Amino acid sequence: MASGTTLRALVVAGARPNFMKVAPILRGLEKGGHEGILVHTGQHYDVRMSDTFFRELGLPEPHHHLGVGSASHAVQTARCMEAFEPVLKEVRPDWVVVVGDVNSTIACALVTSKLREELDCRVAHVEAGLRSHDWRMPEEVNRVLTDRLADLCLTPSEDAEPNLRAEGIPPERIRFVGNVMIDTLLDQLPAARALGMPGRLHVPSGGYAVVTLHRPSNVDRKEALREVLAGLGRVAGEMPVVFPMHPRTRQRVEAFGLGGLLSRLRVVEPFGYREMIGTMADAAVVLTDSGGLQEETTALGVPCITLREQTERPVTVTHGTNRLVEWPVTSEGIIQALRQAPARRREPGTGVPGWDGRAGERVVEGLAAGVGLPSEAASPVGYSAA
Ligand code: UD1
Repeated sequence: MASGTTLRALVVAGARPNFMKVAPILRGLEKGGHEGILVHTGQHYDVRMSDTFFRELGLPEPHHHLGVGSASHAVQTARCMEAFEPVLKEVRPDWVVVVGDVNSTIACALVTSKLREELDCRVAHVEAGLRSHDWRMPEEVNRVLTDRLADLCLTPSEDAEPNLRAEGIPPERIRFVGNVMIDTLLDQLPAARALGMPGRLHVPSGGYAVVTLHRPSNVDRKEALREVLAGLGRVAGEMPVVFPMHPRTRQRVEAFGLGGLLSRLRVVEPFGYREMIGTMADAAVVLTDSGGLQEETTALGVPCITLREQTERPVTVTHGTNRLVEWPVTSEGIIQALRQAPARRREPGTGVPGWDGRAGERVVEGLAAGVGLPSEAASPVGYSAA
């Protein structure tokens, strides 16, 4: 570990929901005079799933691109580990910073933890402590294991720390920093609004729904997907439904022969970041199975109906505009949830502690403070160097 005040941090991004999280961290590092080195694992690789986000968010060209691409969970995770190890050995950072819950997150955390002693580097997990308590979700496995490996668990909301403590993570490894995704939202909102998305989509401002869908629980079984699409068709009877479709969902719709159920929906290609924020900001309601959108709608004051059995982001229900659909999802459940959706708030802003646009700076403060920790204090649970 470098003993000076300047940090060298290797920051990992792999999939679409990571890009808006690393932007404020890299900015915070730069502002503090530290060295931020960006690794793109290439888990998402399309122009629409990746390149557009780099451009809009002002992210630097990645210093290292691992090119792992799509594959089964095992192969994708393994490729990521294999390609990340030589980069880590070459860069020898003080910190590896991983964000969120995708396969790239656990892969790079695991590689780092195995080289921790040899290279004297540590792992920080940004967005630590969120739990759905549903082990059928690949993201839940990634979250729990990444937190277990991390030297520093940086939490986005106050509900996260009790989850970590319940798993035996000692308090000195936990630090509340707030929500980096909201840093990016607040930063980009004026430019997103200026796009005039309702006009471009020919939908009435404040009078349309936005849908995103990609979770295995909704799209991998034909019956479940049919039910969800039928429900969205009923929503379309009440207002226009804009549906930027994830490539994974498009594949399933085609494979299951359910294309006919899309006829009433305005299906479009996945949006860029600003297009998505600009479209959500003026929506009457958002229906989604994404984690990030639950947070973004909370910050925008737009009602959100979450098409999942549970949420790892309960603060969006208690402080925000989010509501879970009755489970299992049925077309009737969707229309009922629409009728009971909370009203739009007039002004954006949540009052959620730490969702204030300064989380990236606090991440960097946490990394800097962590450098001074004795290595035992930052060790994984139950680990002793003795
Ligand atoms: C991944 C994350 C999920 C996150 C989501 C956001 C894991 C376990 N899951 O799920 O947590 O919410 O990203 O999008 O890491 N594809 C493309 N272009 C791309 C990327 C993917 O066409 O740029 C297609 C591929 O054919 C692939 C499919 O989409 O088979 C699924 O992509 P993948 O990254 O494997 O998982 P996601 O479902 O996107």
